[in-house]
Amino acid sequence: MTEKFDFLVIGSGIAGLTFSLKVAEHGTVAIVTKKEKVETSTNYAQGGIASVLGPDDSFDLHIRDTLEAGDGLCDEDVVRKVVMEGPSLVRELVEWGVEFSRSKRDSKHFDLGQEGGHSRRRIIHARDMTGREVERVLLERAEEHPNIKIFENHLALDLITESKMFMVGSSVLRARNRCYGAQVLDAQNHIRTFLAHFTLLCTGGTGKVYLYTSNPDVATGDGIAMAYRAGATLADMEFVQFHPTCLYHPHAKNFLISEAVRGEGGKLIDGRGRAFMGDYHPLKDLACRDVVARAIDTEMKKSGDDCVYLDISHRDSDFLKKRFPGIYEKCLSLGIDITRDPIPVVPAAHYMCGGIRTDIHGRTDIDRLYAIGETACTGLHGANRLASNSLLEALVFANAAAMHSITELDSVRNEKFPSLPDVSVPRTGNGGEMVLVAHSWDIIRRLMWNYVGIVRSEKRLSLAKNHLAQIQMEIDEHTPNIPLNRDLVELKNLLTVARIIVHCALERKESRGLHYNLDYPRRDDEHWKRHTVVKKEVCV
Ligand code: SIN
Repeated sequence: MTEKFDFLVIGSGIAGLTFSLKVAEHGTVAIVTKKEKVETSTNYAQGGIASVLGPDDSFDLHIRDTLEAGDGLCDEDVVRKVVMEGPSLVRELVEWGVEFSRSKRDSKHFDLGQEGGHSRRRIIHARDMTGREVERVLLERAEEHPNIKIFENHLALDLITESKMFMVGSSVLRARNRCYGAQVLDAQNHIRTFLAHFTLLCTGGTGKVYLYTSNPDVATGDGIAMAYRAGATLADMEFVQFHPTCLYHPHAKNFLISEAVRGEGGKLIDGRGRAFMGDYHPLKDLACRDVVARAIDTEMKKSGDDCVYLDISHRDSDFLKKRFPGIYEKCLSLGIDITRDPIPVVPAAHYMCGGIRTDIHGRTDIDRLYAIGETACTGLHGANRLASNSLLEALVFANAAAMHSITELDSVRNEKFPSLPDVSVPRTGNGGEMVLVAHSWDIIRRLMWNYVGIVRSEKRLSLAKNHLAQIQMEIDEHTPNIPLNRDLVELKNLLTVARIIVHCALERKESRGLHYNLDYPRRDDEHWKRHTVVKKEVCV
């Protein structure tokens, strides 16, 4: 079955929904999302949106903090754009109905939170459930919009693209490849074709590539893997951000303890109660995430302990219950009372700073294909993302991509879509063993955690590269016999992304931002003040 729309949006977080609401005034929109529409990384974002809203803040300060975190690799024009356009887009969210927390002293003002690497309080938040509040409002509006249709439990398989090649002598010249939409696996395991004039990838991050992550299960790097297969350029995939403080408990899965807890005075202590961040950075607990995550990793390796602790019990208990209701309730359900007990925490994979390379409009180098949010690499984050800059980036680039595609729509609206063969039958193989899929998932995630984690080395990276190549061979050999299913599709995407992360990490012979290599422990501006770039050669 073939569906036709003006815009195809793959992903239903803040980036996809904001874009959809804007373009829906001009054309029809399909939002394809692989689970329930609310199951997105946005929905789990606790901290908030960094934006210049306070009287003591300025664009220059936010720009400076972002550039410092990015460790020499941010694109300054992009940083300026995102910081300066942020406040008006945050106000638009307020007009749409998002209820951010207000100051206790004066409810006309927002309560601005503090997070690591920020020189001012500038995190606008909805208690400790900012993402859930933003997602709620955007989804409500999208569901009411007559031009938007949401397809839940639809997993995008691959982009539909055309690429043209011309041979000139011995060199190969390539015209811009073009995107026509995507093939999608529906809830009944039928493949459906979604054709669109413009396609937007906003499928979130790649956290599930690691054994421990703060990300929801949907974060398997699908958009990045699809774009790579289609020939788009990826950049900076070695820069994986590890959040310093995920809850450590056998019954807690992927639960973040927001950086805002340290912003409100939380202190990291070891198993003997010693506050250790003073040994690592003058900003102590409010240093940037890469510093804090590495410090915890070092402390855990030194002591052999399974976790460290985050202690905020010195703050007033009513304040804690109001400011962090989600964290308070979750911890209490596991027997940890944050008003009295230190919280056991470990670092976990949190955010992919690299991704599909885009320009200032969110365009990839495939014609009519945009990428926004964690899936994209816009140049904002450089080698390390400043806390709470991600929802901000998603808002600004959703707006930019919407404005750009709307101006192009009129000239393409009447174009005919290509006719494609009907593939709407369920794809089945003749058997095979699903145990291979489950086993490979597990191995990839352990391998990445142990060899491509917070502290890397040439040896660990090479081992990972070889093991992953072996897994790829096994999958290529044995999976054609397995009927097409979601786990298999995600596994293949996960493996692609893991191999690209390792490739980029091996390429960068220095330590910078989130990439720390024991064999090259220093930043090397002479050779490495540049991006790693990956592109699969497309031959059609
Ligand atoms: C947090 O609440 O610590 C997460 C915020 C972010 O990742 O930007």
